Amino acid sequence: MSVVKIENLTVQYLGEETNALDGVSLEIQKGEFVALLGAHGAGKTTLCLSLNGIVPNMISADMYGAIEVLGEVPPKIPVRQLATKVGSIFDNPEFQMSQLTVFEEVALGLQNLGVEKTTIEKNISESLKLVGLEGFEDRSPFEISGGQQQRLAMASALAMKPEILILDEPTSNLDPIGKEEVFSVTRSLNQEEGLTVIIAEHEVEVIAEFADTLVLLDEGRINEVGTPQDIFPRFVDHQEDIGVRVPQVTDLASRKTQNFNSIPVTLDESVEMYKK
Ligand SMILES: Nc1ncnc2c1ncn2[C@@H]1O[C@H](COP(=O)(O)OP(=O)(O)OP(=O)(O)O)[C@@H](O)[C@H]1O
Ligand SMILES: [Mg+2]
Repeated sequence: MSVVKIENLTVQYLGEETNALDGVSLEIQKGEFVALLGAHGAGKTTLCLSLNGIVPNMISADMYGAIEVLGEVPPKIPVRQLATKVGSIFDNPEFQMSQLTVFEEVALGLQNLGVEKTTIEKNISESLKLVGLEGFEDRSPFEISGGQQQRLAMASALAMKPEILILDEPTSNLDPIGKEEVFSVTRSLNQEEGLTVIIAEHEVEVIAEFADTLVLLDEGRINEVGTPQDIFPRFVDHQEDIGVRVPQVTDLASRKTQNFNSIPVTLDESVEMYKK
């Protein structure tokens, strides 16, 4: 079942000469883990913001083509309403915080929607549990680690019970431990809870392991769509042109003279192949 259907989507920010997205067509299936890759300015953020309606509803832009997310047309409904179906996480967790306690932080979106108190309490405890922050209810969102803040931002999104989670470079401001925390929660939300995940992320080693599908953007257009196993080995010689690194094991294996039947993209695959 497809949860995202985009046809020929073109987005032009007001006052800009070039299109941020230029004729993008893409279909995403329920439960899929999709990674958006591409150089700076390729259009990853614009695609994320089109899916959650922030473009053009909060950031003005001209939008052409067709976009449907879980049966809704994002430009046609309020961002806040779409957030009950599509949760969004951005790169700077601190900017997403405004309340004095973790509990209030997660409660905020639900209160704005007018959800009743008992449901709010239930949703908060469920979503804090999903991100491993149970017991943090009374802590200040500003006095926890970056990884915990980002998981708190995820809990706030999850409290609305979305079916899709969009993460725009969620780990770019985190230390290695924070990155690992966010990746592992993201993976379990996808694998255990069945959420569809759409993530823009530069950590290609993790992406190679987690993603079902890679979408490679280049100057607002989709260059390639495929599995990590299909795409990364083919891009070893084009890393600079496309502004995307391939996993180290892929890079290394392709430089060796050994004849591999196929080129590995994850560490486990690599270990298996070198054993042989
Ligand atoms: N609010 C905005 N107003 C005008 N132009 C914008 C705006 N946001 C992005 N752009 C332009 O749209 C194009 C796509 O940018 P976008 O931020 O979507 O790329 P990106 O792939 O997310 O890049 P990055 O890796 O740097 O995050 C770029 O040319 C960028 O300069
Ligand atoms: Mg971006």
